[in-house]
Amino acid sequence: MAAAGTLIVERARVLTAVAAHDDPLGVVDRGAVVCVHGRVAWVGAADDVDAAARAAGLDPARAPRLDAGGRLVTPGLVDCHTHLPFAGNRAHEFALRARGASYQEIAAAGGGIVSTVRATRAASIDELAALTAARADRALAAGTTTVEAKSGYDLTVDGEVAVLEAVAAAARAGAPRLVPTLLAHVVPPETRASDADRAAWVDAFATQLVPRVAAARLATSVDVYCDDGAFTLSETRTILAAARAAGLGARAHVGQFADLGGAALLAELGAWSADHLEQVDDAGAAALARAGVVAVMLPAACVQLRLPPPPVARLRAAGVALAVATDWNPGTAWCETLHVPMWLAATHYGMTVEETWLGVTRHAARALGRDDVGVLAPGAHADLVVWDTDAPADLPYRIGGVAARDVIVAGRAAARLT
Ligand code: NIG
Ligand code: FE
Repeated sequence: MAAAGTLIVERARVLTAVAAHDDPLGVVDRGAVVCVHGRVAWVGAADDVDAAARAAGLDPARAPRLDAGGRLVTPGLVDCHTHLPFAGNRAHEFALRARGASYQEIAAAGGGIVSTVRATRAASIDELAALTAARADRALAAGTTTVEAKSGYDLTVDGEVAVLEAVAAAARAGAPRLVPTLLAHVVPPETRASDADRAAWVDAFATQLVPRVAAARLATSVDVYCDDGAFTLSETRTILAAARAAGLGARAHVGQFADLGGAALLAELGAWSADHLEQVDDAGAAALARAGVVAVMLPAACVQLRLPPPPVARLRAAGVALAVATDWNPGTAWCETLHVPMWLAATHYGMTVEETWLGVTRHAARALGRDDVGVLAPGAHADLVVWDTDAPADLPYRIGGVAARDVIVAGRAAARLT
């Protein structure tokens, strides 16, 4: 009996997402992957696979094998920006927007994020855990093996902790890797009447919630929605400085509607990512590049809100690494899988096929502060997808996607197309 998480994937066109020579995607045309104990042990030419398996301590005649039949094999996709733990549905707001109402008008009339807060507070932890696990499983079947999940729809100290506990329960229940993030989404509706209440919420977030979440290891990073109608730049600084002091990564939603200067702040704090960025100037792009902050592109939300696309050419020229994510949330993008965002990245945003692939693999992992997913390289988790095509360009090209034929997590079959 082979050890769990041991698998030889052969007859594969392997997209490693690790640059090799002049190929940023590091594609091995006639390739193979050896996985041992849930980790990648070796990636290389098909002809060398038996020797590599022996070197990794396997008996090539007895190890389990998966014949990819010449298909494309890539790292499992990484969706680095989602708001998965939420209850309720805002289809009626979509209908209003389809008739011309704006996101801000709907929020000002008592809808928007606050309406999801009402529904989420009314749900039990078990319900939220079940909703989160079911959503992650839907993404998994389409090839997403790592899914970020932000809190942010409870807006009380105890409630935000409970939402992250629901994410932890969902992570224990299912196959996809869930990466929890504490999100300072908006100021709670109860504290909007006075500036003092607002300041008290920012203080409670920074001095109570962040340390509690860090101590309980309920999140790996803290994200702040820094924009008109959400948190100011100085509030964002207070919260993210507390995150860094607690040993957590820093991220922020910046420049979706207005550029409040978030890019420079994130660069100064050594943040993992700056997300949205429809509005960012040359100085902001240069600061992100210098500090190695990943720019997370969220084209589904951008298109749904009819916003202008981010200045991708400016970000590219500055040398900023680009990621692409769904932003799965009930308000601006009920987007379950990365296929449509990949298509939008390569069409509406003007990203190349190579940038699009790195955006949902290696660069997405970096936005989560990780290098052990999103690549097929020795030591990485053995999370991979056999796609029903042999051409990398097919994914952004075919609108709505190519089927994930086999989805492997930690060297084990997690989903198979029958
Ligand atoms: O990423 N921009 C802030 N948060 C979400 C929207 C959340 C909502 O409308 O419920 C976003 O677009
Ligand atoms: Fe978001």
